[in-house]
Amino acid sequence: MPRVNRTLVFGLLLVSSCAFLLFQLYYYRNYVSKHTGLLLNPAGHVTSSQAQWQTLKKFLGLAQYFRLPLFLADTAALALLSQDALRQRDRMTREPHCSFLCTGRPIASFALQANQWKHSAGFLLAAEQKGFELLEVRGHDPRLGSLDTLSGEEIPLHFLFRLHGYIIHVVLLYERSGNYLWHGALRLKANMDRSFAPFKLLDYGRHAGAYDRPELILTVIDGLDVRIPRNISRFLTQQEQARFLECRYHDARSFLQLYPDDSSAAAIEFRRKAKTLLTLAARTLGQLDVPFWISSGTCLGWFRQCSIISYSRDVDIGIFIADFRPNMVAAFRDAGLSLKHKFGKVEDSLELSFLGEDVKLDIFFFYREGDVVWNGGTQAKSGRKFKYVFPSFSLCWAELLEVKVRVPCETLDYVMANYGASWNVPVKSWDWKSSPSNVMENGVWPIAEWAGLIQVY
Ligand SMILES: *[C@@H]1O[C@H](CO)[C@@H](O)[C@H](O)[C@H]1NC(C)=O
Repeated sequence: MPRVNRTLVFGLLLVSSCAFLLFQLYYYRNYVSKHTGLLLNPAGHVTSSQAQWQTLKKFLGLAQYFRLPLFLADTAALALLSQDALRQRDRMTREPHCSFLCTGRPIASFALQANQWKHSAGFLLAAEQKGFELLEVRGHDPRLGSLDTLSGEEIPLHFLFRLHGYIIHVVLLYERSGNYLWHGALRLKANMDRSFAPFKLLDYGRHAGAYDRPELILTVIDGLDVRIPRNISRFLTQQEQARFLECRYHDARSFLQLYPDDSSAAAIEFRRKAKTLLTLAARTLGQLDVPFWISSGTCLGWFRQCSIISYSRDVDIGIFIADFRPNMVAAFRDAGLSLKHKFGKVEDSLELSFLGEDVKLDIFFFYREGDVVWNGGTQAKSGRKFKYVFPSFSLCWAELLEVKVRVPCETLDYVMANYGASWNVPVKSWDWKSSPSNVMENGVWPIAEWAGLIQVY
């Protein structure tokens, strides 16, 4: 009797453990494909997008653990997200696990405000323990750069994490005094591994960039918790136009050693007023969504001496005529500036001049014509017209008097067109009708039209 029982028990145990083993196998296959996203293709291999997804999941999990509020800054992924909901659903049904974050490129870019780069040592160590290889790119800290001190200090600018051939690029964004975010250019040092990543494919790092602080939202993308900019299209537009030029502090210092700056009370007062005016112009035009750049003497001041030329007496900005808005005058009036004169018309040589405190804001409208760009000038008492021709240019961000402004990216060409090869020598007696290198006579306004075209207040 006891013998029979023992065999029976043994048999039952064997059967049930086999069944359990089979169940485990079945469950594992199901669980793995359903819950971890490790989808096996018919040949039984992990698909490449799933490997990328796993890499992202691992990385984002670590970032969450170390409380790093990374946000998705990848232009390809954000472009997919910003497309209409119908196409998103379509993509989701076709490839359920990595529709947005796996963009067909072996890269995903994230950004992080540098002041939140806490616990970084722990994070980097943990990432390495999880198998990520790391490349850290450092560069000079521009926030310490000024006319008095040229910074020698280096700060982390970019991190590249690599696992299974995928790159996760983390761009650090630093707060600058003009109340915007900045990232540095990615420049490899001589001893760095040039094959670490397909550097040419990176969204960030070809140039330094400037951004408004984006409003972020936390959402779930491809089953992962991810922060993204709330207004994706605004962020992507900014990304396209983000290139930032640092002032040439080194050359400016040399210039100021030759030609020391005016430090009289009047000059200091002028700089204060010019800064107020520039801040106001940037805010007013920003609200109208009108891009502008600093022009003429204001641009020369930034380029040559990283400041405003104290004897220039006004602030000059340029705007493409395509960006002219009829409500500009009202917007500046609401901001406390009075219209001083209006010359020309939208079709030809438009120029607006406003007065704030006792500093003038001159707005020159620029016209594209073939591969040049020009703006006009009008002499009020004679109706004579002038034309200033520049080689065509693109726009970059820069900082002047702690205000984020645009400048022509090809600044030297722009300045040389206007001031000639001796732009580096101060000229105090300047006649706008004859001194500029690029001035041309452009006829006379018909007397019958003067009343409309030459308005002085
Ligand atoms: C997003 O930004 C764009 C451009 O700045 C703006 O025109 C649009 O209204 C914004 N969209 C939302 C939903 O706020």
